[in-house]
Amino acid sequence: MAEKSFKYVIVGGGVSAGYAAREFAKQGVQPGELAIISKEAVAPYERPALSKAYLFPEGAARLPGFHVCVGSGGERLLPEWYKENGIELILNTEIVKADLASKSLTSAAGETFKYKILIIATGSTVLKLTDFKVEGADAKNILYLREIDDADKLVEAIKAKKNGKAAVIVGGGYIGLELSAVLKINNFDVKMVYPEPWCMPRLFTADIAAFYEGYYEKKGINIIKGTVASGFTKNDNGEVKEVKLKDGRVLEADIVVVGVGARPLTNLFKGQVEEDKGGIKTDAFFKTSVPDVYAVGDVATFPMKMYGDIRRVEHVDHSRKSAKQAVKAIFASEQGKDIEAYDYLPYFYSRSFDLSWQFYGDNVGDAVIFGDHDPASAKAKFGSYWINDGKVVGAFLEGGAPEENQAIAKVAKAQPPASSLDVLAKEGLEFASKI
Ligand code: FDA
Ligand code: NAD
Repeated sequence: MAEKSFKYVIVGGGVSAGYAAREFAKQGVQPGELAIISKEAVAPYERPALSKAYLFPEGAARLPGFHVCVGSGGERLLPEWYKENGIELILNTEIVKADLASKSLTSAAGETFKYKILIIATGSTVLKLTDFKVEGADAKNILYLREIDDADKLVEAIKAKKNGKAAVIVGGGYIGLELSAVLKINNFDVKMVYPEPWCMPRLFTADIAAFYEGYYEKKGINIIKGTVASGFTKNDNGEVKEVKLKDGRVLEADIVVVGVGARPLTNLFKGQVEEDKGGIKTDAFFKTSVPDVYAVGDVATFPMKMYGDIRRVEHVDHSRKSAKQAVKAIFASEQGKDIEAYDYLPYFYSRSFDLSWQFYGDNVGDAVIFGDHDPASAKAKFGSYWINDGKVVGAFLEGGAPEENQAIAKVAKAQPPASSLDVLAKEGLEFASKI
């Protein structure tokens, strides 16, 4: 079987890989030195588009429109760009074995790839209800969303079922909220089911969640909380027909979309590299415990300088920035230079319907809400601050203008002292604009 050898190999062809490629080119990588190996069939693209404009009934986003790096306002790297830069894009190729000791990777088709320096950028995979042995979870039209192939299956299912049919969304996190909205926009009768007392409990306070739940209800989405999908029934074609809930209720369903969390894809490297918090442990330059092996994006557990701990982050801003940092570190170390340690300010965002929120910093301590958070308002606009040890450590804003979002980012970075919760609630955005 064929063996290929590269100076640098990136395993995974997602967001991090694309942003890493751009930085490699900027640092002067030579033709033939870099390969990106991806099990997907397409060049790196901005994954967030898949749960948003990709699923719109009209004017849907399609490749090549959203190849990296358009999501951060950068140049769009089309497949030709990789060719022109002498970067080998090895698509439709799944790595099934990695031997970090002999610096070699093996693909499902049996090819061997040797490298001097490896960047692990395998991202995450979805948790499936079949993993939890939920009865009937293998029915057709129970769909997940991670990669473009999954999104295409969703598009097909949406088209096949046409308007006015029933969709059940299992999960109240990012996928749950974004997909409920997009299926509603596609004219489905949408029900959401999740076990927690409010949506997005990883980030939202009860007050923040109440706005989104109210807004979704206003749009006609029916939210069922405090229970889970415990089984599914199928029709004669093996397609999902009903969702059975643990509390005894039964929901009709033509399509089910499941978003019950993700798991970082670290299996290939198990036992070969140090792990922590479910990810591959790195330093502030995304170097792992194995020499010449870096890990970036969703799989990396890295030092969060601002908070003095280590974390794994499953969001696109970090995947872009960690990729850039790792490539800069590789070139700096080859040139005997130093670069600054990664100093990341967490930044998450989401969009659905005509809503758009941003969050910066850390959601720990006491939270206070400000502004108009009435879901019935024509143009609600509100935010929240988190206060820990007398300092404002996190800030959230729905419906902010660019300069207002920048202002809350500044607050989260500067961590100004907070006088009192009441004052913050009263001052709202004004507090941020003074920083
Ligand atoms: P990413 O998942 O992008 O790429 C991993 C790549 O590795 C994939 O191409 C995969 O096929 C490949 N791969 C894995 N194993 C392999 C193997 N063994 N061999 C070869 N290839 C392999 N974040 C945010 O901040 N705002 C948002 O709005 C959204 N929206 C959003 C929507 C949807 C639908 C998803 C799934 C995710 C988001 N995210 C997000 C999260 C964000 O997209 C995510 O954090 C980044 O894509 C992570 O980038 P990585 O490069 O680490 O993984
Ligand atoms: P998530 O962790 O955001 O949410 C999972 C949710 O699943 C929980 O909040 C809970 O409500 C629910 N849940 C868990 N078990 C359940 C069960 N048995 N039945 C019903 N509900 C159950 O994960 P996700 O929404 O699946 O997102 C997957 C990945 O994609 C994550 O890495 C996420 O960060 C990423 N993503 C991010 C964005 C964004 O940042 N805007 C958008 C889409 C996806």
